[in-house]
Amino acid sequence: MKNFYITTAIDYANGSPHLGHAYEKVLTDVIARYKRLCGKPVYFLTGLDEHGQKVQQSAKKAGVSPSKFCDEQAEKFTEMCSKLAISNDDYIRTSQPRHVKVVKEILQKLFDKGDIYKAEYKGFYSARQEQFLQEKDRVDGKWPEIFGEVTEISESNYFFKIRQYQDWLVDFLDRNDDFIFPRFRAKQVKEFLKEPLNDLCISRPKERLEWGIELPFDSAYVTYVWFDALVNYISAVGYGTDEFSKNWPADFHVIGKDILVPPHSVYWPIMLHAAGIELPKSLLVHGWWMSSGEKMSKSLGNIVNPLDLVGKFGVDAFRYFLMREMNVGQDSDFSFDLFLTRYTSDLGNDLGNLLSRLLNMGKRYCGSKVPAAEVEGDFERDLKELADATSGEVLELYEGMQFHTALEKTFNFIRAINRYAEQRAPWKLAKSASESDLAALNSTIANMAEGLRLSAVLIAPVMPGVSERILSLLGAEKAERFDGNAKWSGVLAGKTLGQQEILFPRPAAE
Ligand code: MSP
Repeated sequence: MKNFYITTAIDYANGSPHLGHAYEKVLTDVIARYKRLCGKPVYFLTGLDEHGQKVQQSAKKAGVSPSKFCDEQAEKFTEMCSKLAISNDDYIRTSQPRHVKVVKEILQKLFDKGDIYKAEYKGFYSARQEQFLQEKDRVDGKWPEIFGEVTEISESNYFFKIRQYQDWLVDFLDRNDDFIFPRFRAKQVKEFLKEPLNDLCISRPKERLEWGIELPFDSAYVTYVWFDALVNYISAVGYGTDEFSKNWPADFHVIGKDILVPPHSVYWPIMLHAAGIELPKSLLVHGWWMSSGEKMSKSLGNIVNPLDLVGKFGVDAFRYFLMREMNVGQDSDFSFDLFLTRYTSDLGNDLGNLLSRLLNMGKRYCGSKVPAAEVEGDFERDLKELADATSGEVLELYEGMQFHTALEKTFNFIRAINRYAEQRAPWKLAKSASESDLAALNSTIANMAEGLRLSAVLIAPVMPGVSERILSLLGAEKAERFDGNAKWSGVLAGKTLGQQEILFPRPAAE
């Protein structure tokens, strides 16, 4: 069976990992974990984009070779992945021989086919963006800030004939409505394609840039960093070998909205089509984390270091916040106050409190053994009805990438279990000597435990560690599959509850 193949963008090696990078990895990880829980074999790729002028400059500034510089950066980025509990199967670095080889093969293929030609280029160049500019890029006659210093240059370069594929691409996008998710993002691509495309300059002379992949047909040049970087999606999964079809075509390339047009929606489909390779099935385009209305980025100096939050509140709380607050595809403003509110109310007061009440009452009234649920009154019927509705809805919402709503529904259910405990009030039932009150008390404990078990299964893609911990404290197995686990059941009867545990401690005052 072909794997469900999902990728993130590969991060630029010249920056430090920030909330935007962390979000993309967590989002992709949640999808990967969700698919695995649905029983699908998954291949999850992430990595590092190492070549280009900015990396060359940063290495020079740091007084080390670009390759040493990238090794250090790779360590930082992979450390972030492991601290965020990212379950990637592979980590590609564009300086690796497996990648360099495939980039050269694709370049040679397109060159032999006559899709790459050499020409004199005269015009403006932005070193910061590593791209050639056109008059239409000016705003009010000036080059926008994002281009940094712009210089006029004249040099010979190699060009990829993308113009000749424009009509094909427009037609492809018209016929494949689901290529870009969410669909409203396709509008921007279609707008861009209304203007005739310029052929893409895919070379940089070595005098200007050495840290790159040499053109196989002209050793005086290296290739343009985007031509290099995009190829990671196929070089990592063995393009050119029998292994390739195990993963390719990718099911999702997860990317931020800033790199949809033109790299992922124009260059990449055309590169693949020209090289005779199947296109990925879909681009999943997420929005930006903002800080007081501005994009969070290194150059603006307004970045939130994800590892600070993880260190203080735990990785699952951090993942919960990102998934609960961001509606996939939209932007979201990061606020520490909101983070604290979610942490104390949803996680501490609702989920954490439910667990701790259950462990407490289970010990006090049932000797830490989960009783069988024998009594079924209105309260129980309501709770089970909500459980069935919630599990069905939540799985559907996950499938549709509506993670924020999936979590909202799950936490509504968690609050309903807490309400149920108040309604049944085991502490009052325990004072009674009647058999029926005792049976109701036992059933209350059993139903609280079962509701919590179901909730722990449903949050597993987002909060894998907390899910596993809760299940273990309930005497249940870790959720490997939704199938058979994401339904109300009586599996906990007779299981032993663990010792009291505080999952989300109040943060110490600064
Ligand atoms: N190296 C390129 C991608 C090449 S993919 C073949 C690149 N790197 S990046 O480090 O600048 O960005 C990596 C990913 O993080 C991109 O998908 C980008 O959209 C995302 N984010 C960077 N800042 C972001 C936010 N503030 N918010 C959310 N994601 C953003 O682009």
